Amino acid sequence: MSISVRVVGADPQHLSRITAALPGDSESLALRIMTGGALEAAGEVQRDPPDLLVLDAPALDEADLALLESSLLSAPATAMVLLSPDRSSEFLMRAMRAGVREVIPSPSAAADLSAAFARQLERLGLQRLGMPAGTVIALVPAKGGSGATFIATSLAAELAAKGARTLIIDLNAPFGDAALHLVEERPTATLADLVRQVGRLDATLLESVAVEAGEGLSLLAAPDSIESFEQVGADAFERILALARSRFRFVLLDVGRSLDPVTVRGLDRADRILLVSQPSLPYLHAARRVLDLFAGLGYGSDRIDLVLNRFERGVEPSADEASKMLGVKVADLIPNSYRAVGRAINHGQPIRASAPRDPVAKALSVLAERLLSQPRPGRGDASDSSPSKPVRH
Ligand SMILES: Nc1ncnc2c1ncn2[C@@H]1O[C@H](COP(=O)(O)OP(=O)(O)O)[C@@H](O)[C@H]1O
Ligand SMILES: [Mg+2]
Repeated sequence: MSISVRVVGADPQHLSRITAALPGDSESLALRIMTGGALEAAGEVQRDPPDLLVLDAPALDEADLALLESSLLSAPATAMVLLSPDRSSEFLMRAMRAGVREVIPSPSAAADLSAAFARQLERLGLQRLGMPAGTVIALVPAKGGSGATFIATSLAAELAAKGARTLIIDLNAPFGDAALHLVEERPTATLADLVRQVGRLDATLLESVAVEAGEGLSLLAAPDSIESFEQVGADAFERILALARSRFRFVLLDVGRSLDPVTVRGLDRADRILLVSQPSLPYLHAARRVLDLFAGLGYGSDRIDLVLNRFERGVEPSADEASKMLGVKVADLIPNSYRAVGRAINHGQPIRASAPRDPVAKALSVLAERLLSQPRPGRGDASDSSPSKPVRH
């Protein structure tokens, strides 16, 4: 069941950097390294098509690209990644037309190489196993106190209880408190520890850093300092996310108030974004601003669900009015239940455990059912990443 990888290039130094960026668990990769250029690469594809072909080539002309194109046509299952110093849009277009999946700048930082390989290998692995990818759902607060963390953690517990393996990733640094909602002790390992070892990232490492927060429920805690969060890097995070979605049915991102590059990459890759607001004007105004930011980042409204939390019937503005104000439909209503929610949080228990009959627990169960009934994402490459500038809201 291993994935065959062929790396072709003329520069021995480049070749060793490329192979070093491939994931560590060599058991699942059948790797062969060859000296050569486009001709040798095309020959390989024709003779014995690998699952993944990596070609590092200083310059390719039209004849080279035509050769690669015809060999790739004959081997549709081969995914090709090209490392090239040529970044002209003409060249990139031509390479894509030739059937190249991804063109990576050469030279590239090790983390960028790793991220690109992880993307391709994840896709190949899932294809091979015939497994659809897990669903990534980002929970974003309209502003602090909306209830995003409470909903993320209790929803994660609800999904796990319904049999869907779920991982929750806390992206609030340095004050992440998702863990406190689910486990008694503060986890000692965090997302930052995973990133530090991203070179040897695999399922075992992911599972050793994540803490178990119940049956079928894992949690990756937020880094405990801004410095270590800043070291995470969007590409490393993307690798972690790609691996996570291949291991879990749901990956929930508990997003904070900062749209830093890591968060934006998470949002880029999310299949659904649940914007959590409360039905009062300050929250709805904040939600409007977040929706504008999302529009600026190119997120279509079909990917965004508005969740109205602490909703009370008869209190203005109504769900309809909120919906009109924001120009999006309210997807879910979570009632206000001060005591039961407070008790659950204080006991570090999901509300389904501490107060299963509370209307909040019931509403979260309905929300979980809604998510479970949605089709699973295809191959886990929902959208391209957009430029990630830190913004606060
Ligand atoms: N449905 C609810 N009913 C009552 N109180 C709630 C509800 N949801 C959240 N809360 C309260 O709001 C507080 C802030 O929620 P939190 O999830 O930390 O917000 P955010 O992550 O959006 O900043 C919680 O500690 C809890 O006391
Ligand atoms: Mg929060």
